[in-house]
Amino acid sequence: MRFDVLTLFPALFDSYLDQSLLNKAIEAGLVDVNLWDFREWTTDKHRSVDDKPFGGGPGMLIACDPVYQCVEHVQQQADTPGQLIMLTPQGRTLDQKLVEELAEKPRLVMLCGRYEGFDDRIRQGLQPMEISAGDFICNGGEVPAMLVIDTVIRLVPGVLGDETSHKYDSFSHSGLLEYPQYTRPRVFRGMEVPEILLSGDHGKIEEWRKEQSLKRTRELRSDLLEEEENRATD
Ligand SMILES: C[S@@+](CC[C@H](N)C(=O)[O-])C[C@H]1O[C@@H](n2cnc3c(N)ncnc32)[C@H](O)[C@@H]1O
Repeated sequence: MRFDVLTLFPALFDSYLDQSLLNKAIEAGLVDVNLWDFREWTTDKHRSVDDKPFGGGPGMLIACDPVYQCVEHVQQQADTPGQLIMLTPQGRTLDQKLVEELAEKPRLVMLCGRYEGFDDRIRQGLQPMEISAGDFICNGGEVPAMLVIDTVIRLVPGVLGDETSHKYDSFSHSGLLEYPQYTRPRVFRGMEVPEILLSGDHGKIEEWRKEQSLKRTRELRSDLLEEEENRATD
C-alpha cells in the first residue's frame, strides 16, 4: 500500500515513520510512505505558498498553483494516480467503516492544509475525497494524515503480527466495543481477573466475551447499538 503525503512540514513525520509497527511494515515492503513539500513547487525567492484571503479576514490561505503542480507531479509517480484525499475539518469523519474503505485502495495521496486552510479552488478543481479527523480544529492536516496511515495500515495484510487481531478490535467485525482484557498477575491491588478467563473453557470464554462486549457498548456507546439496529431493519 502506498501513501503520499503532501505537506509544508514533512519533517513532522520523521519520528512517526520510525515507530516500530510502521517501520517494520516499511522495511518489509508492505507499506510505502512518500513525503512531498509544496514549497518545492514555488517559483519566487521566498518560496511562498500562502496568500491573504480575498474579501479580508484573518490568516493566510494555501494558494492553488503550488498545490496543483505538486499533485500533478506526485500522481505521475506510480502506476495509479491513487485516491486523492484532502484532510479538512469539513470532510467525512474518519471512522472504522471509512478506514476499511480506504484500506481497499492501493494508493492514497493526502493533502495536508495549514494556516486558514486551502484556496477553495483546490477542492473544486481536484475533487479530492474530504476527510476529517473529528469535529475540532487541528493546526494542520499532518496529525490527521498520520491518523489515516495509522488506522489503514492495521488492515494491510501482513502488517499486524496476528492477522485476526484487528477483527476483534472495537468498531470492527461486530461493530461493538471490545470486551475487557487482562494479563498477569491474577490479582492486582485487590482486583481479580474474572474466574471464567482462567477456566480454559474456550466456548464459555467466547460467550462471556460476547456478553461483555454488548454490555460495555450499551453502557458506553449505546449509539453503536442503534446504528446496528437501523442497519438490520434497512
Ligand atoms: C487551522 S485549520 C483550518 C480550518 C479552517 N479555517 C476551517 O475552519 O475549516 C488548517 C488545516 O488543518 C487541517 N485540519 C484541521 N482540523 C482538521 C480536522 N479536524 N480534520 C482534518 N484536517 C484538519 C486541514 O488540513 C486544514 O486546512
